[in-house]
Amino acid sequence: MYPILSKKPLAPSITLMEIEAPEVARKARAGQFVILRLSENGERIPLTIADFDRQRGTVTIIFQEVGYTTGQLAAFEPGDALPDFVGPLGLPSEVENYGHVVCVGGGVGIAPVYPIARALKEAGNEVTAIVGARSKDLLILEEEMRGASDRLLVATDDGSYGHKGFVTDLVKQVLDEGRPVARLWAVGPMIMMRNVAEVTRPYGVRTIVSLNPIMVDGTGMCGACRVVVGGRARFACVDGPEFDGHEVDWDLAMRRLAMYREEEQQALAFHRNGGGCACR
Ligand SMILES: Cc1cc2nc3c(=O)[nH]c(=O)nc-3n(C[C@H](O)[C@H](O)[C@H](O)COP(=O)(O)OP(=O)(O)OC[C@H]3O[C@@H](n4cnc5c(N)ncnc54)[C@H](O)[C@@H]3O)c2cc1C
Ligand code: FES
Repeated sequence: MYPILSKKPLAPSITLMEIEAPEVARKARAGQFVILRLSENGERIPLTIADFDRQRGTVTIIFQEVGYTTGQLAAFEPGDALPDFVGPLGLPSEVENYGHVVCVGGGVGIAPVYPIARALKEAGNEVTAIVGARSKDLLILEEEMRGASDRLLVATDDGSYGHKGFVTDLVKQVLDEGRPVARLWAVGPMIMMRNVAEVTRPYGVRTIVSLNPIMVDGTGMCGACRVVVGGRARFACVDGPEFDGHEVDWDLAMRRLAMYREEEQQALAFHRNGGGCACR
C-alpha cells in the first residue's frame, strides 16, 4: 500500500498529494510518470511525477478532476492509501546544458513542466519559463516556477493576471527578442502543445512536447497510447511521453484522446447516480 501523506488544494479542482513510495522516489527523474489505481478493480490512471524526495521516499502528484477516477482520488485524505502506484514509467526528459531554454506550462501542465525546468536549471541552463491558465485563480506553482527559472512570464486567457492571452503569444515574444533558444519544452492540453509547436516551427527551435494519450498498461503491450511521430507509430508510455512537437500527427492524437468521451461521460453519470441508471 502507498499511504497519502499530505493533500493540498492548489486551485479549484486541482489537488496536490504527496505519496509515500520510496522505490518510485529512488528512481524518479523529470519527465516520468506513474500509473495508479484507487482499488483492485479501479481504472489505471497515469499522472506525471510533479516532484520527488529521495530521502523521505515521497512522490508528489498534481491532478485535475476531469472524470470519475480523478474525482474519487480528490476525495481521498491523508491516512488513506493507494493499493497500486507503479513507476517511474516512461523515458526521462533529456536534460543537458543547452544554453538558453524555454519551458512552457499550460493549466495543470505546469505541474509536469516544473521538475523539467528545475532539472534544466540545475544542469546550468538559462531558463525562461512561460506559464498560463484560464484565469489567475487557476494558475498553479507560480512561486515554484519562479524559483526554477531565470525569468517567468505569465499569461491568463481572461487577463486577470499577467499578459492577457495565450502562452503562444509569449512564446512568440521571446523568440522575437532574437536571443537564440536552444530548446523549448511545452506541456499542457494537446491544443496548446500543438499551437506552441506551430509558433516555433518557422524559427527552427527544437520543441519537445509531453503527450498524454489514453494509457492502460504503461508497458508498451496494449497499444492504447499509440501515437504517430515522424510518420512512425510510437507508444507514448515506453517511447515517450516526450516527442518532437514538429513531428507529431496532432489530428490523430487528438482524435484518439477523444475516442472514449461518450463512455467516460456515461461512467461519470453512472457513478454520480450512486451506480444506478443515469437517466433517473
Ligand atoms: C503520461 C501522462 C501523464 C499525465 N499526467 C497528468 C497530471 O500530472 N495531472 C493530471 O491532472 N492529468 C494527467 N494526465 C491525464 C490523466 O491521466 C487523466 O486526466 C485521467 O486518466 C482521467 O481519468 P478520469 O477517470 O478522472 O476521467 P475520464 O472520465 O476517464 O476521462 C476524462 C478525460 O481524461 C482523459 N483520459 C482518460 N483516461 C485517460 C488515460 N488513461 N490516460 C490519459 N488520459 C486519459 C480523456 O481524454 C478524457 O477527456 C496524464 C496523462 C498521461 C498519459
Ligand atoms: S499504455 Fe499500453 S502500450 Fe502504452
